[in-house]
Amino acid sequence: IERKLLQKMTTHKAHCLILPYPAQGHINPMLQFSKRLQSKSVKITIATTKSFLKTMQELSTLVSIEAISDGYDDGGHEQAGSFVTYITRFKEVGSDTLSHLIETLTTRGCPVNCIIYDPFLPWAVEVAKKYGLACAAFFTQSCAVDNIYYYVHKGVIKLPPTEVDEQVLVPGLLTIEKSDVPTFVSNPESAKILEMLVDQFSNLENVDWVLINSFYELEKEIIDWMSKLYPIKTIGPTIPSIYLDKRLPNDKEYGLSVFKPMTNECLNWLNHQPISSVVYVSFGSYAKLEPDQMEELAWGLRNSNKNFLWVVRSNEESKLPKNYLEELKLASENKGLVVSWCPQLQILEHKSIGCFLTHCGWNSTLEAISLGVPMVAMPQWSDQPTNAKLVEDVWEIGVRAKQDDKGIVRREVIEECIRLVMEEEKGKMIKENAKKWKELARNAVDEGGSSDRNIEEFVSKLMTIS
Ligand code: UDX
Repeated sequence: IERKLLQKMTTHKAHCLILPYPAQGHINPMLQFSKRLQSKSVKITIATTKSFLKTMQELSTLVSIEAISDGYDDGGHEQAGSFVTYITRFKEVGSDTLSHLIETLTTRGCPVNCIIYDPFLPWAVEVAKKYGLACAAFFTQSCAVDNIYYYVHKGVIKLPPTEVDEQVLVPGLLTIEKSDVPTFVSNPESAKILEMLVDQFSNLENVDWVLINSFYELEKEIIDWMSKLYPIKTIGPTIPSIYLDKRLPNDKEYGLSVFKPMTNECLNWLNHQPISSVVYVSFGSYAKLEPDQMEELAWGLRNSNKNFLWVVRSNEESKLPKNYLEELKLASENKGLVVSWCPQLQILEHKSIGCFLTHCGWNSTLEAISLGVPMVAMPQWSDQPTNAKLVEDVWEIGVRAKQDDKGIVRREVIEECIRLVMEEEKGKMIKENAKKWKELARNAVDEGGSSDRNIEEFVSKLMTIS
């Protein structure tokens, strides 16, 4: 596959420079999309920060990566100290170093035709315009969430929202309550982050395409509504082709991970578990659980009496109850395995998995949809509450574990939700729906499907302008 892609690169007809926001959940969907473009004779160069590159444990072997600077080459975001400081300096230094990269690539005989940027970095539009390049925004979150930030941008949602009234109904969502909006909207303390999110729309009318990592069938009403405002193209789900679309059968590379995936231990363990018996538990690359929440989750999983595979990142491990891991190892039935990271797609695809207890990060949500795994949603922050709302009430492929008035999901609730999905009558309906959405996701990226057509149109337009 690598040789074939490289051969295609040598005959490429357009060159896209990809600018992701330097975070695992942002760079990976753009990488997957890049590989798809590359398989269609588009040359790809990914530009990411020096500091982010240093944290990489796994690099893609399939696309070329160049470093730019965010002004904090030693420690990136952590070095900056505050989010606002980071984003302000990134704009300044990033614009210069991205410009320099475009000039260098031209000198090397590889001129860029189009910048595909994460709208968390809207200054990329000005860089594209300066060089007369085409420009596409790539939203890594759901169209529903983008739509909510758009409403904030337009002042339809007032800040801080004491309550969200009917006028801010998101097309295609049922009723949206305060607990369903992204936390940056509902929490006044996140005002600065929200400013950045709203800024995504500040110059969006100047771009040639708005690409969204979703698929038409999944968010029809919202996409139809947003398409009246912007040149929207849904191109997802962007997961490696081996899991969804067999046209590139060997591409299962997830790539660009800041963690080392633990392959054999997890898969060997799963191979010994009965079909659909295991609860897979993960909160993605970033979310930090309150110690109380960690404790409740630990006992909820044990008490559910189900087998579970739980990803606890090493920086979270100290929050586990005392002796929990030791007792788990000694337990005669060997019910649970705790690992610090795993190859999530391979896990979700495994026949032993019965449900996914997830924070509902958008990538995890799309991956569960694509592989037909029902969910127990335990959103933590950012876009996750809205994704959980969609999972439970719109697509009906999971249940949301409700928090108490202290903001903690108690062990009994966790136990109950797991049972509901894995054992009860309602669980059967959820599983049927999960199968249906898996099929629709597959159709979207398959030849002639909604996302496939959008990608084809995007590529052919690129070819004409290049
Ligand atoms: C963040 C936000 O939290 C999320 O809400 C937003 O939509 C994207 O950016 P993150 O929290 O990391 O991302 O969650 P998610 O979007 O689910 O991405 C996690 C990725 O890591 C997934 O692609 C998942 O497959 C991968 N993963 C996770 C692993 O490969 N192994 C693991 O053990 C856990």
